[in-house]
Amino acid sequence: MSATGHLRDGQRRRRPARVGVGRGLKDTFANYAFEHQEIAAYTSLIAMAERIGDTALVGPLRQSLSEEGSMAKFIAGQIVPTAARYMDLVAAGEKAKV
Ligand SMILES: [Fe+2]
Repeated sequence: MSATGHLRDGQRRRRPARVGVGRGLKDTFANYAFEHQEIAAYTSLIAMAERIGDTALVGPLRQSLSEEGSMAKFIAGQIVPTAARYMDLVAAGEKAKV
């Protein structure tokens, strides 16, 4: 890796040898964001299907949108417990790597 942090040709970025204690928290953030990206995508697809009059597609898309909303709610419910677990691990001496 160069001094600027960019990889030169042929170099591969190494993965950290140890997964940090903040990994679960970061994954929760990413999963929450991803579910909302999917919600936006399905909302957009429904609008497009309605605009072209493809009524057969709207039902399954709405079903998928509903499922994504349920998953987003589930993940939202994991944020506080995951943050608490993170704090517990840090308090127990684990190194914080968020
Ligand atoms: Fe999803």
